[in-house]
Amino acid sequence: MLMNTWYVAGLADDVKDKPKQVKLLSQDFVLFRDEAGTLHCLSDICIHRGASLSAGRVTKGCIECPYHGWRYRGDGAAAEIPAHPDARIPKRVRVDSYPVQERYGWIWVFLGDAPESERPPIPEFPEYDDPSRRTIRGTFTWKANYGRVVENGVDFAHAAFVHPSFGDRDRAEIKDYQMSKQEWSANARIAMQPPPYTGIWGFKRKERSDVIAEPEWHIAGMSVVLRLKITDDWNNALFDVNTPIDENTTLTHWQLSRNFFTQKFFDGDTYRRTMKIFLEDHAVLSRLNPVELPPSLRDEFSMESDAMMIAFRQKRAELYKRGWGLDTQTYEDEFGDRKAAVIPSPARGEDPKGWVLPEVPRLSPEGEPMRQAAE
Ligand code: FES
Ligand SMILES: [Fe+2]
Repeated sequence: MLMNTWYVAGLADDVKDKPKQVKLLSQDFVLFRDEAGTLHCLSDICIHRGASLSAGRVTKGCIECPYHGWRYRGDGAAAEIPAHPDARIPKRVRVDSYPVQERYGWIWVFLGDAPESERPPIPEFPEYDDPSRRTIRGTFTWKANYGRVVENGVDFAHAAFVHPSFGDRDRAEIKDYQMSKQEWSANARIAMQPPPYTGIWGFKRKERSDVIAEPEWHIAGMSVVLRLKITDDWNNALFDVNTPIDENTTLTHWQLSRNFFTQKFFDGDTYRRTMKIFLEDHAVLSRLNPVELPPSLRDEFSMESDAMMIAFRQKRAELYKRGWGLDTQTYEDEFGDRKAAVIPSPARGEDPKGWVLPEVPRLSPEGEPMRQAAE
């Protein structure tokens, strides 16, 4: 899993006056709002005796630890130690605090120590604010690695075999595939040959013209945006954010915006169609070997139609070289139940000393666990 990017930690409306615990990248975090309604995200581990801050309460704009009542501000610094009200609070009495943004109805948290100028941008999704469109939302939990989930979202060669409502196994050829890469994302344009439509879709689409698919992946949120031009005047846009809970669990928050059948009446059908597609993917993705993306491109065989996935693997390898890959294997084996560790926050980037808890170990630049690399 990668640090130094944005991840979606939940729905903005789900955090009101109570703190909320969320798990991302195998770590626990607490989300809470201060008196002004500003959202904060802190490491959930109290550095006094390890209590879970999310089990505490919000008071005077701080999160209060449920064990001995130490209070931490949104920036992570301790504001009060009730057993010693007159003591000067040392600077080390702080927990890691992570940048937060509320966008598209979601809470985005930046997990890492990189300064603002080095952070990947949150994707643009203008469909969210377009009043002529109708949007539905949902979540899907995968027993699969986030990298496999992202790749699946930008993979079109599988549609003909996995999604009978979407692809046609007798017309599986991928032709006319164009891709371009940006610093933190890639996008493509693919002409797809759909199966004959049934039901209300069949009524509108008598001709089997190509569907134009425009998939994008973005490092921020491990997002996949998929725009489909179904006819000249019908299109929809699916925005998935794929949050790694741990190496083998991914929580997808999705929203699907459509410019046709915009009455509420059609929401149920749209929701069922979307979840059916996730379930069809899950049957395959939950059984991939290996679970994670292999470290080298040579470890699996790729074709031209895998270009978006190859670009994603290359970007991931480049970020490992920067030291942004988390070494979950070493972390589990060496820290386990004996020692806590945290993902470093931007304040640590500026001031690496003077923190109570150590950082989660990182992968070697080649993407290997550190111990293995040393052997
Ligand atoms: S464990 Fe949090 S105040 Fe003691
Ligand atoms: Fe799929």
